[in-house]
Amino acid sequence: MSRKKIVAGNWKMNMTPTEAVALVNELKPLVANDEVDVVFCVPAIDIIPAMKAAEGTNINIGAENMYYEEKGAYTGEISPAMLVDAGVKYVIIGHSERREYFAETDETVNKKVLKAFEHDITPIICCGESLTQREQGITIDWIRQQIKIAFLNVTKEQAKKAVIAYEPIWAIGTGKVATTEQAQEVCAAIRVCIGEIYDEATAAEIRIQYGGSVSGASAPELFAQPDIDGGLVGGASLKPDFGKIVNYNK
Ligand code: PGA
Repeated sequence: MSRKKIVAGNWKMNMTPTEAVALVNELKPLVANDEVDVVFCVPAIDIIPAMKAAEGTNINIGAENMYYEEKGAYTGEISPAMLVDAGVKYVIIGHSERREYFAETDETVNKKVLKAFEHDITPIICCGESLTQREQGITIDWIRQQIKIAFLNVTKEQAKKAVIAYEPIWAIGTGKVATTEQAQEVCAAIRVCIGEIYDEATAAEIRIQYGGSVSGASAPELFAQPDIDGGLVGGASLKPDFGKIVNYNK
């Protein structure tokens, strides 16, 4: 089964609406590649102007977060219906920065994943170990736990459409990209775990990204691994280098 690669930018808390439009305009000629799904996950306030700037291109505009309730008294949160109305099809769920600074847990990640599917938004579900966990040799156990809770009550048909981003925390924003072997090993273990929860067909269909200091230089080797189906890209997604990552196969 051949899975279409998916490369998503995670802008994090960068770019004003005006800067967002300029960046989409700068990157759009560079990220044309029909063999890859291209997503720019942008701050909520940038979604509408970025969507407009990306019209008629292959760029999908996604969100970086979403709340798990439909609406109501949740000051400061963004609902799934708001994202859908703005044309959003992808949302990052449970990024390690959300877990570390905003108290997200495996349980809230699960609620958000279920809510995203209810609204037909594809979740990009993040998981990843800390340096201590890697050094203690518990990486795979930890990731399996994150995955098993994230997918609680998610149906097989939904799971097939999910995207998982494996992002070792020690590799995020540090310039320390995981070795190809480390990244492939964990992505393969995630696929095995999905196979255990569901079945082989679901495991074969689900897309698993690697994230953590991905660059135009490291992307070709990473994305050539059998279980790595693209990348979630932070720092390099704000630069022309993102075009090289998307065109890793050219
Ligand atoms: P980075 O960020 O590419 O800057 O390491 C990746 C991420 O946090 O998604």
